[in-house]
Amino acid sequence: MNERDSEAVTAQLVAKGYSLAGDVDAADVILLNTCSVRDAAEQKALNKMKAVSGRVRKNGSNVVLGFMGCMAQSRGVELVDQLPDVDLVVGTQKFHRTADFVDDLLDGRRDRIIDTDEEQGSEAAIRDHLLNGNTSKKSVTAFVSIMQGCNQYCTFCIVPYTRGRERSRTIDDITAECRELAAGGVKEVTLLGQIVNSYGKREIGVKDGKSAFVQLIEAVHEINGIERIRFTSPHPKGYGDDLVEAYGRLPKLVEHAHIPVQSGSNRMLKLMHRGYTRERFTELIDKLRGINPAMSIGTDIIVGFPGETEGDFEETLALCREIEFDNAFIFKYSQRRNTPAAAMPGQLPEEEIESRHARLLKLVDEIRARKLRGQIGVNLEILVEGPSRRNPARLEGRTRCNKIVVFEGTKRHVGQIMKVQITEATQTTLYGEPVALSQN
Ligand code: 5AD
Repeated sequence: MNERDSEAVTAQLVAKGYSLAGDVDAADVILLNTCSVRDAAEQKALNKMKAVSGRVRKNGSNVVLGFMGCMAQSRGVELVDQLPDVDLVVGTQKFHRTADFVDDLLDGRRDRIIDTDEEQGSEAAIRDHLLNGNTSKKSVTAFVSIMQGCNQYCTFCIVPYTRGRERSRTIDDITAECRELAAGGVKEVTLLGQIVNSYGKREIGVKDGKSAFVQLIEAVHEINGIERIRFTSPHPKGYGDDLVEAYGRLPKLVEHAHIPVQSGSNRMLKLMHRGYTRERFTELIDKLRGINPAMSIGTDIIVGFPGETEGDFEETLALCREIEFDNAFIFKYSQRRNTPAAAMPGQLPEEEIESRHARLLKLVDEIRARKLRGQIGVNLEILVEGPSRRNPARLEGRTRCNKIVVFEGTKRHVGQIMKVQITEATQTTLYGEPVALSQN
């Protein structure tokens, strides 16, 4: 989501005539987009800004320095008090104003701008893309922001405070953006939101037994040129049968679901204010696998939530063994200010959180690697995205289940959907060889 916001701001700046600088020393404007979900991300952004401002202000330059995003929103003027060299603080409902703010600062009309106000309609403002603009790499995949904000108020989470109430774009607006992307060569879109299955609940509502989110997926499915549809992230609560069934009847909707579970303990889920039980979650996974046994399942898990006992943690380990997630992001609980969990009893010592993190990571890594090895010899469909990040002499693509496959190919394969046979698997990556190249 943050990457998507940064891309939209960059595209707006480029549309105004700015160009991307190759490095910090060549830049007239340096903007840091920030995440507040965990404290480590905030500290990283603060340290980065300190380092950058020290470097560029050393010779008295008047480069514009700005913070954008969640930390800008939650800390506002505090950031400038802490780092007086900062000229610009752009909140989460003001991304689309950044280019105008930068103009004002560079032209000397204003000395400093801090804008963290709410703005009606801002949910529709993240729509510009920088197709092929950033690198020589052709864009064949794109993220599309369908909504902003969150109303769930999980007790650990800062997002409702930094991103505001849930607001959804219209289906017409989103499909228009997807059509433009398809015209620009994009073959795969990932629909983005804090809780995508809450999309349009109030604004659009249920029609013919279909939730607004399923109506949106159907509308995107109609677009010629878009070959694959993904979304992230849905919430297990309110993950309706209409969405489960969509996987069975919409072939462009790929068989990969990232569904954050957060914990395997019902006691923790309740304290987290998640609104479902472990049993409801496993039932949902069973339904998805029932629709398509090849469905790959990813998740997010927090370890060390206040009051988590060894027994609670073992329930999370057991859930991971039971479900065998294809991928899981494991997060160490991080206290966020003004969230209910920060004031809960039973905050765990750092060492305990570290140790549970390591134990769970080891388990999910083993499961993922085993499942990847199971793909050896299998033919899989990939969408070729471009040169491999590790070895640019090779290409890489993604399977429908979101696995990266590295293979020997030529430039003309980029943007194509083709079959590869898997020959090798590492901890995170598959390697393959094109199958019946002439038919692709
Ligand atoms: N501490 C640790 N992880 C968190 N997440 C959200 N808030 C916190 C927090 N306070 C994780 C959740 C969420 C993912 C994006 O970040 O697992 O799904």
